[in-house]
Amino acid sequence: MTNPTALSESSPKLKVRIHKPLNVEASFLNPHSPITAAEHFFVRNHFPIPEIDAASWRLEIGGAVNNPISLSLEDLKAMPATTHQCVLECAGNGRLFLPNVPEGVQWGLGAAGCAAWTGVPLRDVLARAGLKPDATELVFEGADHGIPEKQLKPKNEISYARSVPLEVTLKPEVLVAWQMNGEDLSPEHGSPVRLIVPGWYSVASVKWLTKITAITRPFLGYFQTVEYTYWAHRGGLQPERIPITEIFLKSQIAHPVLHQQIRAGEACRVYGAAWTAGVPLAGVEVSTDKGVTWHHAEFDSPAEDHAWRLWHWDWKPVDIGNHSLMSRASDIEGRTQPAQHNEDYESYLIDHTISIPVEVV
Ligand code: MTE
Repeated sequence: MTNPTALSESSPKLKVRIHKPLNVEASFLNPHSPITAAEHFFVRNHFPIPEIDAASWRLEIGGAVNNPISLSLEDLKAMPATTHQCVLECAGNGRLFLPNVPEGVQWGLGAAGCAAWTGVPLRDVLARAGLKPDATELVFEGADHGIPEKQLKPKNEISYARSVPLEVTLKPEVLVAWQMNGEDLSPEHGSPVRLIVPGWYSVASVKWLTKITAITRPFLGYFQTVEYTYWAHRGGLQPERIPITEIFLKSQIAHPVLHQQIRAGEACRVYGAAWTAGVPLAGVEVSTDKGVTWHHAEFDSPAEDHAWRLWHWDWKPVDIGNHSLMSRASDIEGRTQPAQHNEDYESYLIDHTISIPVEVV
């Protein structure tokens, strides 16, 4: 298990937000590649990292299935594997930029990363168990456990568990993964095996996966009723509390960083990343005047799978003083990032155009 102090001291790119359980923020972008190295990838844990012996680890698949099965790591690795690039973004990424910073892990821009995940498509694993026709949802459980933080918590310890609707779990890109960027998963990122649900906030990508249960009713566990939920207004009804699912369209500025000093009259490359739940991006724009005028940025990496795209725009600031940089992504279906955070989302789903204050000297 990685020592959190060593982590923070070994790289200025990492900030330990909570030591126990370990929660680490990263400097979200590698300017040379859309892929974030494992050692520069954020870590979000609710409970202590479990110690798992990969040789005796099993994945149990049961519930509404015809043949409950138990697979070893060897069984999984004997199946045809695939690799898929995708962004993992914590649903609270950017919380520090909300007014009156709310409770929760104090994430800046670094609770997001993009990696290449290798594993077996979940649907191939499910096919071996044979889902019953009335299965509607799958519950994924990790080996980690403890008493959760918020009120409305159960009296006894729980395991980290989250459900995903059946139609999503059958998509070919949803993986039971054992590798990140071509290396075995580290303990922080869920070794030996984790779920990867591309296009969804990473709350659904359950680490240290040990159990999958097919169910015939909605699952109402802690991590989708107390935490990771928001108020939605649907069909003219009273607001409903619903679980966080798909990633919202978003862009972030990686450079310049907050409060950076920039020389007047010199070129400054503004760069960052943009991503969606799967709908292709149409473009990214940058503003240096609080959103009054916008300039088109150029993409520096191709549209691929659920990976983020790098972009840049070259700025030559003239006016000395304080400036505010903002980026705004749009997709090919006409969506654009909003100017304001939606308060119904509380401290989650932070997709508005964030201001990065800089000083031109
Ligand atoms: N899986 C387990 N078993 N336990 C957890 O605490 N945290 C979830 C998800 N999967 C979590 C988990 C959340 S909230 C996030 S944002 C991602 O893992 C973070 O993945 P990472 O730590 O590999 O970046």
